[in-house]
Amino acid sequence: MNLAYKILSSHLKEGKLVPGEQICIQIDQTLTQDSTGTMAYLQLEAMEVGHVAVDKAVAYIDHNMLQTGFENMDDHEFIRSVAKKHGITFSKPGNGVCHQLQLENFSKPGETLVGSDSHTPTCGAMGMIAIGAGGLDVAVAMATGKYYLQCPSVIQVNLTGQKAPWVSAKDIILKVLQELSVKGGVNKIVEYTGEGIATLSLTDRATICNMGAELGATTSVFPTDKRTLEYLKQQGRENDYVEMKADADATYDQVLEIDMSTLEPMVAKPHSPDAVVPARELEGMAINQVVIGSCTNSSFADMMRAAKILKGRKVAEHVSLVIAPGSSSILAMLSENGALADMIQAGARILECGCGPCIGMGQAPLSKGVSLRTINRNFKGRSGTNDAGVYLVSPEVAALSAVKGCFSSMFEDDMYLEEVPSTPFIKNANFFINDYDPYTEVYMGPNIKPVPRGEKLAKNIQGKMVLKVGDNISTDHIVPSDSKLLPYRSNVPHLAKFSFCKVDDQFYHRAIENGGGFIVGGDNYGQGSSREHAALVPNYLKIKAIFALSFARIHRSNLINNGILPLIIDQVGYDFFNDQDEYVLLDVKDAVENGTDVTVQNINTKETIVAKLSLAPREKVMILQGGLLNAIKELGGD
Ligand code: F3S
Repeated sequence: MNLAYKILSSHLKEGKLVPGEQICIQIDQTLTQDSTGTMAYLQLEAMEVGHVAVDKAVAYIDHNMLQTGFENMDDHEFIRSVAKKHGITFSKPGNGVCHQLQLENFSKPGETLVGSDSHTPTCGAMGMIAIGAGGLDVAVAMATGKYYLQCPSVIQVNLTGQKAPWVSAKDIILKVLQELSVKGGVNKIVEYTGEGIATLSLTDRATICNMGAELGATTSVFPTDKRTLEYLKQQGRENDYVEMKADADATYDQVLEIDMSTLEPMVAKPHSPDAVVPARELEGMAINQVVIGSCTNSSFADMMRAAKILKGRKVAEHVSLVIAPGSSSILAMLSENGALADMIQAGARILECGCGPCIGMGQAPLSKGVSLRTINRNFKGRSGTNDAGVYLVSPEVAALSAVKGCFSSMFEDDMYLEEVPSTPFIKNANFFINDYDPYTEVYMGPNIKPVPRGEKLAKNIQGKMVLKVGDNISTDHIVPSDSKLLPYRSNVPHLAKFSFCKVDDQFYHRAIENGGGFIVGGDNYGQGSSREHAALVPNYLKIKAIFALSFARIHRSNLINNGILPLIIDQVGYDFFNDQDEYVLLDVKDAVENGTDVTVQNINTKETIVAKLSLAPREKVMILQGGLLNAIKELGGD
């Protein structure tokens, strides 16, 4: 058996480990961040449960940290009070990025984790099955200890050879993205094997697992070994070590071989993480901004390698270099060992430990600017500047380019840090709050609005097509997350006004005028993140169904959780839909109940097409009831 299936089978509650089958697994740990967590906790509250049913649940504040108005602080206080009421550990703002902190403090080999953030797979580096999910799925996992998913197949990525000094973990995952594309991992677990693994530190592996999310993968996983133990020792948690590895004769559904000795520094060009080319192709290109940080590259080792390059050098005059260490522990260690001073001395701006620029919370680039970032995604506009180009690189390329003032990957020998010190982490328990009190009164400030609830499925559904879009529509297109909107994650009516605004600024008005309707999309609809708001907003706007050539995994689940039909069409079906026409889904309720295809008729022309809908039994109940919150009782508390 491969490692992925070993962990899944030890947690299997329902179903069979056959790719494509609906399975239910026991969840050991959950995490939320504030941006998706506020809604997840509103949903948890709506379920009227007591103490969480998982061993460890953590609520992080790392996304919306700017307090330029009351909204973010309202959300933080709400989350703090809910955490206290349900026995959830609360990580205060400034403690760091959720995935870095989870890895440092709570990750355990062989356990399962679901998190309301698409980069939750970061903890796969620890030999865990760690999956990003919608907030509601995470709320259900907290309430019941269970998580439902489509059983993934497993891709083996076999790492051989020794990478050159200037090749980093980021370059390995960029290479995998180049090979497999942003769709290559959908409904798959990426399992890393091979003797090359031993050369990668735990945090190198975390970088690789982190960006497995960009492959669309369910998760990524590494076996555990002495590098894992070494990291756990640094965290003062060596007793958590368990050996986890695939059987010698393990089988996989697909294999990708990567000889690390052939790799070189890589870059993902705007506006997709799989637009990967060798970094040398951009040598000398003018740049304006460099960002080092995010859940992908903010480990102690990443910071130390960047600091080594910056030490005694100067950030180019026209370049703004910002650095956000991944956790308060890392910041404290950099401060103690002098690396922080080296960064500041070189002219770097130090940001607080959090997501910051990655999510467009500050540090928007120059208009038409070029920003080199160590983050994981470079979708258009995510940085806060719509016409800027974001290039994804390793911390080493980022630091070197900041110094050279242009895109650079020609390193000098004295820039290389032979060995990152394996120092014990400085732990600051003051940033974690654990004070369970079931009688806590939940704080609800004016920025917190109720969760939208769907309606039971009608016999037929009629409505207009209110939007038609192309391929690779991301959750960012559906609900943008710039710094002006992030504070409204707990305020769906306000967010709805901006839905699809970058694609079609009349969408909101059309949806309101028509009392909802249908959306038609191309391939990979809803790609990019676990952002549940990309389903909550259409639910609020009474969008009943979305027709697409294919759906991204998490978004499809989020739509069903919100009672919205994800219907698959082919190219003929795509062409069938015309602006402003009215359509009816004939006997859709029967089709859902019986598991048959859905007939769609154009009311004007009477022409019909057939759309495919394949729902697991539990998903059927959700669609019939108008969403998971309405169906939770019927699903027996699941
Ligand atoms: Fe935060 Fe960016 Fe990661 S928003 S969780 S640092 S992808």
